Amino acid sequence: MNIVTCIAPVNIAVIKYWGKRDEFLILPTNDSISATLDTDQLHARTTVMISPDFKEDRIWLNGKEEDVKNARLQNCLKGIRKRSQLSGYTNDWKIHICSKNNFPTAAGLASSAAGYACLTAALAKLYKIEGDISIIARSGSGSACRSTIGGFVRWHMGSDKYGTDSLAKQIVPASHWPELRILVLVVSDEQKKVPSAIGMKRSMETSQLLQHRIMHVVPERANKMQRAIVEKDFKNFAQLTMKDSNQFHAVCLDTYPPCIYMNDISNSIINLVHSYNDAVNDVKVAYTFDAGPNATLYLLEKDVSAVIGVLDHFFPPSENVTIEYRRGLPVEGIKPSQGILEKLELQKYPPGQLRYMIYTKVGDGPKYLNNPQDHLLDDQGNPIN
Ligand code: DP6
Repeated sequence: MNIVTCIAPVNIAVIKYWGKRDEFLILPTNDSISATLDTDQLHARTTVMISPDFKEDRIWLNGKEEDVKNARLQNCLKGIRKRSQLSGYTNDWKIHICSKNNFPTAAGLASSAAGYACLTAALAKLYKIEGDISIIARSGSGSACRSTIGGFVRWHMGSDKYGTDSLAKQIVPASHWPELRILVLVVSDEQKKVPSAIGMKRSMETSQLLQHRIMHVVPERANKMQRAIVEKDFKNFAQLTMKDSNQFHAVCLDTYPPCIYMNDISNSIINLVHSYNDAVNDVKVAYTFDAGPNATLYLLEKDVSAVIGVLDHFFPPSENVTIEYRRGLPVEGIKPSQGILEKLELQKYPPGQLRYMIYTKVGDGPKYLNNPQDHLLDDQGNPIN
């Protein structure tokens, strides 16, 4: 086999990774935990091809040729080639790589996590590598290690200075908590953001709060989170998720100069979630934000239509919709209860502050596509548009 195509999922952390103890090897300063999202809604797709006829390694991302010398890409390629030699696969043929996302990169979703997980999984099959591949994906982008596995995943920071024990492991498979749902709210935003790698370096250099978080908060919180997931204890899961997102953004503000990732709409979503939970006298929804303004909500299936109803009321979709507003799994009977709306004393935004929402659930890890029509490279190794 000289060509492999694979899809890999996005993951959204509920205990955030922020801070590296080794920048080159991408070794984190704390454990992190995430849910892997279903590839049916969001995925990266990558085709890798190897041939004695190729003159050099080449890569195309979302339709454009990129520099194959990129350090992170080289980390993955070298890691794979080294492992393959150890397992007796020896040739020095060049490879072509073509990758694209089924969601707009501009959506600000963790596209590098899905991308590097996909690249690693595809190369692993091409080079017949067995066993853990999360270590190799990690060397491309830290959070990518968690996207090599389905369900709920913990990235163990490890203690070895070469990073041999800094890898991702499954806590439970996707089937463990089938009622759990995820709503990704894509928020309008033009602001240029500090890339995560630069932001976390700056936080390591300047934030005392980050040191406190690493030493005194995450170790205990990650264990509590793992327990909440295993026990399907939504209330604890939701509270820990929100607290960890808030602390991560507090660290970003404690960084000097500060990294400001959330905007007014993000803050209003936080407000709405707390007001909603207060109004129903329970914890039914949790928010979390990565290095950008988009919100990811975790909730149970039975509450989805009521929550979307509330969101539609306070953040109505744009009137001149040119793109599909509600994407992903189907939802029926969207209608907020009038009683709840009256209890929520919140400002109603003008239409279009949310660009769109993606409704999805927890899913499995990377999948291989065996139909030749799914390949992104033709017989000669050129990208197919
Ligand atoms: C806020 O994995 O993108 O999404 O390792 O430098 O590639 P690098 O960083 P990256 O950081 C992700 C940070 C986060 C939190 C998380 O996903 O845990």
